[in-house]
Amino acid sequence: MKNFQSKLPSVGETIFSTISAKAQQFQAINLGQGFPDYDGDEFLKDRICHYIKSAHNQYAPMPGVLALRESIADYFKNKYQLNLSPNSEITITSGATEALTASILGLVSQDEEVIIFDPSYDSYAPAIQLAGARAVRLNLVDETFALPMEQLKKSINTKTRMIILNSPHNPTGAILSRETWLEISELVAGTDIIILSDEVYEGIHFIGERHFSPLELPDLKERLISVFSFGKSCHMTGWKIGYAIASPFLTTELRKLHQYFTFSTFTAAQLALADYLREHQENFINLGSFYNTKKELFIKELTGSRFKVLDSSGTYFLLVDYSEISNKIDTEFCLELIEKYGVASIPISVFYEKPISDQRIIRFCFAKKDETIKKACKILREI
Ligand SMILES: Cc1ncc(COP(=O)(O)O)c(C=O)c1O
Repeated sequence: MKNFQSKLPSVGETIFSTISAKAQQFQAINLGQGFPDYDGDEFLKDRICHYIKSAHNQYAPMPGVLALRESIADYFKNKYQLNLSPNSEITITSGATEALTASILGLVSQDEEVIIFDPSYDSYAPAIQLAGARAVRLNLVDETFALPMEQLKKSINTKTRMIILNSPHNPTGAILSRETWLEISELVAGTDIIILSDEVYEGIHFIGERHFSPLELPDLKERLISVFSFGKSCHMTGWKIGYAIASPFLTTELRKLHQYFTFSTFTAAQLALADYLREHQENFINLGSFYNTKKELFIKELTGSRFKVLDSSGTYFLLVDYSEISNKIDTEFCLELIEKYGVASIPISVFYEKPISDQRIIRFCFAKKDETIKKACKILREI
């Protein structure tokens, strides 16, 4: 096709697929892509089979199974004291990815600008490009990975349609505080800027930390879409069930895309998740302490190595500095780790538009069985 022009000419295979394939080829322990090497609760497996066998196999309602939307509303009432309308404010999507992409394509127009912060999750920029808009990519500050507030203020102009924020943050584990959200709220007051808040790691905040959801700020409500993932909260990333919470006005716009992207999402999985969230809400509330134990194990097992673990407040990722071991750039170092030592990680430069040249940092996922963490760290201690 001579006259075909790709809409995403610079997009190739994602780094996660590349690293996972390499890890498989070298039979490496995969601490790269963000998925657990254990399954979610037996309860979920029993319920999904039950619903499949009892003939719940046709299209779900477009906005999602009502029971699941009601369970979500109940969870937000208990955890955040928020009153959400299952009918007009909650939409079930095929993973958080669908909600993010539908929000960007549905709300951002040609030639507008969307501000994102690097290192950023890799689905944002291609969706912005598909919308015909420009991604304004600002780097988070040094190794604290705080928001560059002054730069953010300077970057806002009449073309700015959206700001995308992610907290708890992949890959850095940083969490945005209530104070920072208040500053953002003040910054966008009186504008037509939409805030897209990626909260897929909502439940994974460590001891002494709290996830502050911007949904808790009434002033942000009219311009806010918050996005969540049951893949992350239920250790079932392959089920690809996510949801978006937004004002009735923004929900209507989001659903216009959702109904033509996918129309609806896997019925039996939604019904199983509705039961799980209703009957085992404690597992969602205690997710942070579950992962805190794994984080501490990872750090303890890495003690004595030449890797330096960076501070982290949430998610199931840890960044480590390897500058004592090698001066290679992170992509090369990650390949060496797989090929020579049999451990897979993710280079963080791939999350940047303009990678920081002297940064020697990689990301490990510790959503792994204790024995996997111990086995991997034994190898890492000897490098
Ligand atoms: C920051 C962030 N947003 C969104 C997603 C996608 O979530 P889902 O698998 O539910 O589509 C991920 C998955 O790794 C993520 O890390």
